[in-house]
Amino acid sequence: MNYKIKMPPAVYGGTDSVQILREILKKEHAKDVILFTDPGVKASGVVDSVVEIVKRQGTRFRIVDHLVPEPSAEDVQAILDEISEINCDLILAVGGGSTMDAAKLISILKGSKFCVRDLLNDSSSPQKRIKTIMIPTTCGTGSEATCNAIVAKPEEKLKVGIVSDEMIADYIILDPAMISGLPKKIVASSGIDALAHCVECYTSNKANPFSDVFALAGAKLIFKNIEKAYANPTDTVAKNNMLTGAFYGGVAITSSGTTAVHALSYPLGGTYHIAHGVSNAILFAPVMECNLPACADRLADLCDAIEPSFSNQTQQEKALHVVHRIREIVSFTEIPPSLKSFGVPKSDLDFLTDAASKVTRLLNNNRKKLTLEEIRSIYQQVL
Ligand SMILES: NC(=O)c1ccc[n+]([C@@H]2O[C@H](COP(=O)([O-])OP(=O)(O)OC[C@H]3O[C@@H](n4cnc5c(N)ncnc54)[C@H](O)[C@@H]3O)[C@@H](O)[C@H]2O)c1
Ligand SMILES: [Zn+2]
Repeated sequence: MNYKIKMPPAVYGGTDSVQILREILKKEHAKDVILFTDPGVKASGVVDSVVEIVKRQGTRFRIVDHLVPEPSAEDVQAILDEISEINCDLILAVGGGSTMDAAKLISILKGSKFCVRDLLNDSSSPQKRIKTIMIPTTCGTGSEATCNAIVAKPEEKLKVGIVSDEMIADYIILDPAMISGLPKKIVASSGIDALAHCVECYTSNKANPFSDVFALAGAKLIFKNIEKAYANPTDTVAKNNMLTGAFYGGVAITSSGTTAVHALSYPLGGTYHIAHGVSNAILFAPVMECNLPACADRLADLCDAIEPSFSNQTQQEKALHVVHRIREIVSFTEIPPSLKSFGVPKSDLDFLTDAASKVTRLLNNNRKKLTLEEIRSIYQQVL
């Protein structure tokens, strides 16, 4: 099997690691920095320490703080148009996956002849024009580590992934202070998203020796820490482990790829605007249960990593335990087990089945080739 791994060149982490920003700004001789964030992150105050450092460095900078969560192609284009006349030689993204994805797109599009829509069909042409520093504030999409940016395509009621090696971040800072005040709901949704990245990448057709290392280590960290991070917001060890696990999940995505959980999740985000992590959480166990016959061996490996007391059990029992743990975590973190509370009508079952079946980029990664009937049955379980 052929594979590659695209690693971000510089990753800093640990307590107060945000201070490294000073060195980075010096090294890059940055004159005009744009800091991208969103209103929720700005209101949480976590941006303040970053702003302080940039200000003390005497670098000219501007904050663009009205990025929207889970943006459409047009939302990102509007920001690009707005800043088209503003100089920028370094991009700082402080936020969750939504902010980082928008910043990554801007890093290859600002000042180019391309627009966001051009990349929906072919993302191979634009080259990186502005270096990026990613500081994640959720735990999380792993977007800081990936070459992907996800945007909504409202006319198809879908979300689509734009993939380009040029979008890999130049610097990443994983500072636990950035997620210390993260609302519990977002610890839950972004944490389960990160877990899905690890489990899907480990059970993917694209799994390989490189991605396995990160997917397995990330899954282990998240399985062991997500409930602690959710239940006790001041558990900094658990939060730190979540941030690391989420980053590992992102690295695994660059070499392997997510599978049917994310594929079936896309129409839910695109149509009903259910948060990415929430729709993944609802679909996670039912999809893995359906996948079980094709990946019991891989799920059993995950069980060995998280539950040594199961060492004498059969492969099937170990695999089932992982599915059980996923259900347990979704329930513990109080994410609704079904789509009922999100206003998804049962009559949309055919639409959802059809829309998900078109997400072939991810369905092709799924070890079990899902039939339309199986996709339908998974949605039926959660409607
Ligand atoms: N590029 C990738 O590889 C990749 C992978 C998975 C998901 N995604 C995309 O990422 C997006 C989801 O990102 P996300 O789950 O990180 O959430 P997000 O960036 O959409 O943020 C969710 C909410 O949390 C708030 N928030 C974030 N950090 C906070 C903090 N520290 N304190 C208080 N509030 C905070 C934000 O203001 C926002 O309202 C989706 O669009 C998804 O499709 C991208
Ligand atoms: Zn995801």
